[in-house]
Amino acid sequence: MSIEIDILNGDASWPIAEPLHSAVWGRDVVEKLPWGHVQWANADLRVLIEAPSGGLACHVGVYFRTILWNGRKVHVGGIGGVATREDCRRRGYATLAIEAAVHTMRANDAVRFALLFCEPHNFAFYQARNWHPFTGEVWCEQKDGRIRFDYMAPFVLDIGRAPRQGTLDLCGLPW
Ligand SMILES: CC(C)(COP(=O)(O)OP(=O)(O)OC[C@H]1O[C@@H](n2cnc3c(N)ncnc32)[C@H](O)[C@@H]1OP(=O)(O)O)[C@@H](O)C(=O)NCCC(=O)NCCS
Repeated sequence: MSIEIDILNGDASWPIAEPLHSAVWGRDVVEKLPWGHVQWANADLRVLIEAPSGGLACHVGVYFRTILWNGRKVHVGGIGGVATREDCRRRGYATLAIEAAVHTMRANDAVRFALLFCEPHNFAFYQARNWHPFTGEVWCEQKDGRIRFDYMAPFVLDIGRAPRQGTLDLCGLPW
């Protein structure tokens, strides 16, 4: 069976992604979580996989940002908002969509490594897909200023060699 994967502009494709996003991260659930108040960046691109039965099966947001690692500028790719519709899980869709996102990052010569943030219940999922824990500090912007971001754990993927330690400043909202 063929699988349809699109990579679309992040803002333009938000209306396609929004129903899945709301189903997975409903407001009443999210507002009770420690990160419920965090302001997130909008994705630059979105990887979208259509369900054979119609509708969106899987979403991965893709971000590009020049950040600071130990004060030095480095261009990175990010992924966020990884979600598969409940009735479409365990078919390899998220794996495929993350691979497509990473392929897009690799096509951008400036990108040195990939970075994501996740909760403990997903550590094993990403570690099984070659993402490594970043054990240093992460800083980011929020509306009230610069904060230490420790609501979720950072994981990095080597494109060039990704740092595993040190201080990352996202120089903007997290993803
Ligand atoms: C995590 C999620 C995106 C995986 O989507 P998916 O399309 O089912 O993923 P895949 O089919 O590519 O991979 C599933 C495989 O990963 C494993 N897996 C899924 N979630 C896992 C987790 N949290 N920890 C370890 N393994 C996990 C499954 O056991 C399965 O393994 P198998 O192929 O050996 O059976 C999906 O469960 C989801 O949307 N969860 C809720 C939102 C979320 O937590 N998103 C991640 C935000 S960082």
